[in-house]
Amino acid sequence: MSQPLNDPTAIKAAVREHYGNAIQAATGCGSSTCCSSSSTEIALYGEATITAMPADVVTASFGCGNSLAIAKLQPGEVVLDLGSGGGLEVLLAARQVGATGFVYGLDMTDAMLETARRNAEKLGAANVSFLKGDIESIPLPDQSVDVIISNCVINLAPDKGQVLGDAFRVLRLGGRLAVSDIVFDGELSDLPISEVELRTAISWAGCFAGALTMREYREQLAAAGFSEIGLEVTQRYAIDDLRTQAVAAEGDLSDEVLHVLDGKITSCAITAVK
Ligand SMILES: C[S@@+](CC[C@H](N)C(=O)[O-])C[C@H]1O[C@@H](n2cnc3c(N)ncnc32)[C@H](O)[C@@H]1O
Repeated sequence: MSQPLNDPTAIKAAVREHYGNAIQAATGCGSSTCCSSSSTEIALYGEATITAMPADVVTASFGCGNSLAIAKLQPGEVVLDLGSGGGLEVLLAARQVGATGFVYGLDMTDAMLETARRNAEKLGAANVSFLKGDIESIPLPDQSVDVIISNCVINLAPDKGQVLGDAFRVLRLGGRLAVSDIVFDGELSDLPISEVELRTAISWAGCFAGALTMREYREQLAAAGFSEIGLEVTQRYAIDDLRTQAVAAEGDLSDEVLHVLDGKITSCAITAVK
């Protein structure tokens, strides 16, 4: 079901409900529903990394890339993961920054936070904390973070400008953003259907309906104050991928819309510096 595009509260409620259900299904049967499936985690993170993690942590993953490969974390860094879900990237980051570093995960969905905290306990991770909150209003002080990571989340926020502005606020000078996200490659005005028609045909929670274009992402990062902005396509979604995601997210993609979108929806590695 699509959500009204102009109602941020309804969008967030639908996203929360979708991911609350998704994490329960994933921890129950090992499936995942957003932008990847659990079988893709080995390809994304590498076999050694994934086999060293408990199975529950891996199946509780819903990303569309590997933000740690983008971030290149260093020991001692303070990291914030926007939309940390079941905690996989927080727990991997915690190992990379070590005992002198610290990793915060931020998520608004209770079932995700419960899973992430349980996973942290299972691994005995002492340098992590999972915070409940909205990525549009990050519950951390100004200039308190070295690196912001995020995997397949910013597209879900109704107000991306607010997310990127608040990310800029909490980063220290010289701090960096390293994000994997769904991004539209091209201009929506070039499509044979209207933007509203397109976005309402897709479930917001499925990660495609809320995606910015590459141009919009650059503009919004620059408006937030970021420099050294980079966007690199890491994956292009073909019709079959889109159909699978639409089904998983209970979206409603007609064949006409699928053909319009073929290859234009991408996962991108997004980098920027404060
Ligand atoms: C596609 S999942 C990705 C989870 C995780 N990053 C991963 O790679 O597995 C999206 C996550 O973002 C969270 N989320 C979406 N919008 C949010 C918002 N406005 N504030 C906080 N969390 C949000 C959802 O609750 C969900 O856990």
